[in-house]
Amino acid sequence: MNEPGLMLYHQQDYAERAQIYAPWCQLQAVTQAPAVTAPALYLDREGMWLCMPGYPNPFQPSHNELLRRAQSSGARTELARACGSAISDLHILDACAGFGSDGLLLAQLGAKVCMVERQRLVWILLQERARHFSGAQAICGEAAEVLARPAAGTQAASWDVILLDPMFPPRGKKALPNRGLQHLRELTESAANGDDELILLGLALEKTAGRVVVKRRLKDAQLLPADFQIKGKSIRFDIYRGQMQAS
Ligand SMILES: C[S@@+](CC[C@H](N)C(=O)[O-])C[C@H]1O[C@@H](n2cnc3c(N)ncnc32)[C@H](O)[C@@H]1O
Repeated sequence: MNEPGLMLYHQQDYAERAQIYAPWCQLQAVTQAPAVTAPALYLDREGMWLCMPGYPNPFQPSHNELLRRAQSSGARTELARACGSAISDLHILDACAGFGSDGLLLAQLGAKVCMVERQRLVWILLQERARHFSGAQAICGEAAEVLARPAAGTQAASWDVILLDPMFPPRGKKALPNRGLQHLRELTESAANGDDELILLGLALEKTAGRVVVKRRLKDAQLLPADFQIKGKSIRFDIYRGQMQAS
């Protein structure tokens, strides 16, 4: 999805890198991240940042936090366990990638991860983040389209694991756990459609002989009865066996 008039502000030294995104963004050289009235991007030596109206400082998903998670819990995280053993042998499709906290963690653990994100601005942040992880690629598009016909350049014709994390439905006024998720919701909720999840799950089941892993809040209903579950403190993974015939 293209956002009309998406601005990418950049420091002059990063004009060449910013140019990659010229097909989708209006570029403007600045000396520091500006205050904005609409979501925008800002590029400097520390990478791509998200500027949001009402926030004095730009936001960037934390690289160090991701590395810390990979180092401290690694293959023992619920996410990695949900994907299966021998992570480094897996081709994983993260079909609703957001800022890539899940997909890039799996890439850091050695998996080949193809991440799909439909919101252009979110994808640009993801793409800039994914550059630092070998084995990760980021596609801007609809998950259903990538599932129906793997795009040219994806790393595998079929996946061992398909991860689905569309967006938890809002629950009352409860604040989201971190600024990243808060912004993801603000940026993507207009495109959110509750029916998506079930359709995506159906498609994903057809497209793997391995596992489909659906991330849910602990108390959310299952989309379909899962084959098994892995539970964390506040979220759980519903795991389904894929229906594709293994070749
Ligand atoms: C809850 S967030 C994912 C968070 C992600 N797991 C992470 O670790 O950062 C959901 C993201 O999926 C994207 N999304 C939802 N449905 C999608 C679809 N059908 N195709 C592509 N992207 C989708 C949304 O734009 C949003 O950025």
